[in-house]
Amino acid sequence: MDAKHIRNFSIIAHIDHGKSTLADRLIEYTGTLTEREMEAQVLDNMDLERERGITIKAQTVRLHYKAKDGEIYELNLIDTPGHVDFNYEVSRSLAACEGALLVVDATQGVEAQTLANVYLALEHDLEIIPVINKIDLPSAEPEMVKQEIEDIIGLDTSDAVLASAKTGIGIEDILEQIVQKIPAPPADNDKPLKALIFDSYFDAYKGVIAHIRVVDGMIKPGMRLKMMATGKEFEVTDIGCFRPAPVNINMLESGEVGFVAGSLKNVRDVRVGDTITAANNPADEALPGYRGVTPMVYCGLYPVDSSDYENLKDALEKLQLNDAALTFEPETSIALGFGFRCGFLGLLHMDVIQERLEREYKLKLITTAPSVIYHVYKTNKEMVKIDNPASMPPPTEIEHIEEPYVKATVIVPNDYVGPVMEISQDKRGVFKTMDYLDVNRVMVVYHIPLSEIIYDYFDKLKSATRGYASLDYELTDYQPSKLVKLDILLNGEPVDALSTIVHVDRAASRGRQLAEKLKNIIPRQMFEIPIQAAVGNKIIARENVRAMRKDVLAKCYGGDITRKRKLLEKQKEGKKRMKAVGSVEVPQEAFMAILKID
Ligand code: GTP
Repeated sequence: MDAKHIRNFSIIAHIDHGKSTLADRLIEYTGTLTEREMEAQVLDNMDLERERGITIKAQTVRLHYKAKDGEIYELNLIDTPGHVDFNYEVSRSLAACEGALLVVDATQGVEAQTLANVYLALEHDLEIIPVINKIDLPSAEPEMVKQEIEDIIGLDTSDAVLASAKTGIGIEDILEQIVQKIPAPPADNDKPLKALIFDSYFDAYKGVIAHIRVVDGMIKPGMRLKMMATGKEFEVTDIGCFRPAPVNINMLESGEVGFVAGSLKNVRDVRVGDTITAANNPADEALPGYRGVTPMVYCGLYPVDSSDYENLKDALEKLQLNDAALTFEPETSIALGFGFRCGFLGLLHMDVIQERLEREYKLKLITTAPSVIYHVYKTNKEMVKIDNPASMPPPTEIEHIEEPYVKATVIVPNDYVGPVMEISQDKRGVFKTMDYLDVNRVMVVYHIPLSEIIYDYFDKLKSATRGYASLDYELTDYQPSKLVKLDILLNGEPVDALSTIVHVDRAASRGRQLAEKLKNIIPRQMFEIPIQAAVGNKIIARENVRAMRKDVLAKCYGGDITRKRKLLEKQKEGKKRMKAVGSVEVPQEAFMAILKID
């Protein structure tokens, strides 16, 4: 298709403002799918996504639209993941577009992730079309939301579309604005090939499929292509586009969006942000903005049943086929045995992987508390990166420790500014700025340790603001902090998997709370179990789990064997998520107890 008739765009929105519903309506309106084919929310195609109502992996779809000017346009809708963990993927998807629909819920207004995504879009010089969604709701306040968009983002909203993705109001208007306002992509089929990879996934039949935007040149089947960052070469077997099911086509020209597949088996070779070029006529330089993904949050994953170790390894390998951001390496814990240290982009990513391992691979796992990466400067001038509290060098070898900080942006109604500040300060946050967005809402920015965010910052914000707070954060820098390792001893033995890194001022109270919490979590056993919290050699708290008075069978006065079996089975059931640590049975909850402490 002549590039003049191509429009490449994304939809950016805060979670739940209606992005997927709007995408569905656009697909339906342009007749890409008949109603019968139309599954609810075709773009969110993973079960988990559907259940959680969030978009994790980007998808694209090509629509053909006959505009009022009588011409037929090719509209490529590039979906972006909606969560802060996937910011880099969002930025690559936006880099593949010339424009974006900014969807704002007419009953909610601008939220933290709306802003974060708009700033990304503006960085890429995208033409932004404001869409005020959900105007069918009685509580919709489109005029106020327009004003907010003008005041906060500085966009002209005189042409903003008032829409309802649910009822279909405004859909045609949106399509017309896409055609009229979003520039056609610049295109030159004669230049050496340059195509941006903005997503990739593994398909059991075709191997790795890369979603790409062709910037210069063109791609045909049979061509030999090369990834500029990883250096991998492959021969093109399939070229196509999504409508929204994959459809093979015979070329992708400059300006177009689609997919290529070849003899590639590993998503690691097909990195988001990398540039594809022709092996025999390569471009001089890659497209800007490539960076490798770096996990921010780590935790240990251990099979409850140690005979599942190989199964866990297989499952992680399979998930990794499709997820270049997931990292893992074998780890051993004295307490938990053989497992893996896994790295994730953020907490949501971690949750999703854990859930998939348990649900799709039927694995029973013990997960240790998440940790960030600490930079530990040793007295011998060496710097080591520590992602597991258990591997912290002894205090005598440490000169100082630095931890990652983020810029956290919170948007709340004014009435809740007090609690937000209190919580942020309590989480060692340093106040930066506060701006009124309108008469009712405020945007507060804090510089805050990432480790505090991954604990319970957002949960606390939500409950203190009756769910009104929205949060977005981005990594800014590393700062020195007075941190120490807090150890837990059960029965006199340190349990490596229960160690955490805490600020020295919090060590004593965290230690006490943790000991108390563990006392309630660890079931009584045949003997008394002392629980101690320690920093270095100093014990800072102690609790006891009292010994059990009778064993379960004592009730059975000899005779009834079926009753005995039932009781034993019940006991076994209770043990499923338990791990024997020395002579003590410790339930899964214990390893996450640190997250549930005030
Ligand atoms: P993420 O995938 O999490 O980013 O969410 P999303 O922005 O894609 O939101 P989604 O389309 O899933 O919509 C969220 C909820 O709002 C769903 O329950 C939709 O049915 C509802 N919704 C979307 N658009 C409208 C609308 O125009 N009117 C009304 N009343 N409800 C809508």
